Amino acid sequence: MKAQEKGTILTGDRPTGRLHLGHFVGSIQNRLELQKEDAPFFYMIADAQALTDNAHDPKKVSDNVLEVAIDNLACGIDPKKTTMFIQSQVPEIAELAMYFQNLVTVSRLKQNPTVKTEIKQRGFGESIPVGFLAYPISQAADILAFNASRVPVGEDQLPVLEQANEIIDTFNRIYGQTFARIKGITGTHGRLMGIDGNAKMSKSLNNAIYLSDSAKELERKVMLMYTDPMHIHVSDPGEVKGNVVFSYLDIFDPNKSEVAELKKQYKKGGLGDVVLKRRLIGVLNTLLDPIRARRAELEKDPAAVLAILKKGSADARKEAVKVLAHVKSHMHINYFG
Ligand code: TRP
Repeated sequence: MKAQEKGTILTGDRPTGRLHLGHFVGSIQNRLELQKEDAPFFYMIADAQALTDNAHDPKKVSDNVLEVAIDNLACGIDPKKTTMFIQSQVPEIAELAMYFQNLVTVSRLKQNPTVKTEIKQRGFGESIPVGFLAYPISQAADILAFNASRVPVGEDQLPVLEQANEIIDTFNRIYGQTFARIKGITGTHGRLMGIDGNAKMSKSLNNAIYLSDSAKELERKVMLMYTDPMHIHVSDPGEVKGNVVFSYLDIFDPNKSEVAELKKQYKKGGLGDVVLKRRLIGVLNTLLDPIRARRAELEKDPAAVLAILKKGSADARKEAVKVLAHVKSHMHINYFG
């Protein structure tokens, strides 16, 4: 492995809801792969970032801290290998974000494609909370307070990471070489469609399958999945492109040759949607059953999960304090040594 591929890894989730299959495909699978490496790995629950557009609903954010921690643990994130921490418990991140704010213009933030889309989705109009507009700056601080260089994220986050690299370049130019540029690591399958055929699975679009959905809930959702509206009778030829069931089988079904065969049959006619949906339900239950079982165990002992986050937050803070001392020396603000 190349030396640069050994850099510190940092990733995170906003605690605004339970995680779904889109998170799994976009980021969690990569986290599990990267966790096998022998590199420092930080996993952050971005509660401060979640508050940038949920300031009036703090309970929603704090309740979901435990939920996303449990989702990640249930998927196989191992606190022995990965430092799991809560963003607000490492105030050095906020401090670094404050210094970074001086290096970014408001107009540049407004051009960030991710932020632009999210502002539209949230219907802020002209009333955009400053913290929300500036979250890419604070996200750069999340990463750089740990000198991380590899960041597993969903595709939609790439413009945020691009903005972080601009901050890095500007910082290094002004204060001398301090930070290495960062690299986003996205899932190999691109974005996961919603069950309604929308290009993106998301809680706000109400088209998500959650990692914590029961087998019964999963079945209900798969049965609702968008297929081909012209495929009315089993004997009709069907369309594979844009068909949610096939797009999921492509990603989750380990038997690629059988899926190829099913596509052929479907296009020709004679293969019913229900048969395909039953197959997909089986495939997804195979994936989710062990995750559900681990979740059930973790839910029995929330205090143990909190203890993991408490220890992780203390460890993460130690690291951030070290990095900040170094950064502040480059900024000529380490007055007392
Ligand atoms: N913005 C990310 C998301 O919505 C969550 C996040 C916060 C994050 N800070 C991060 C991801 C730092 C990677 C690195 O998914």
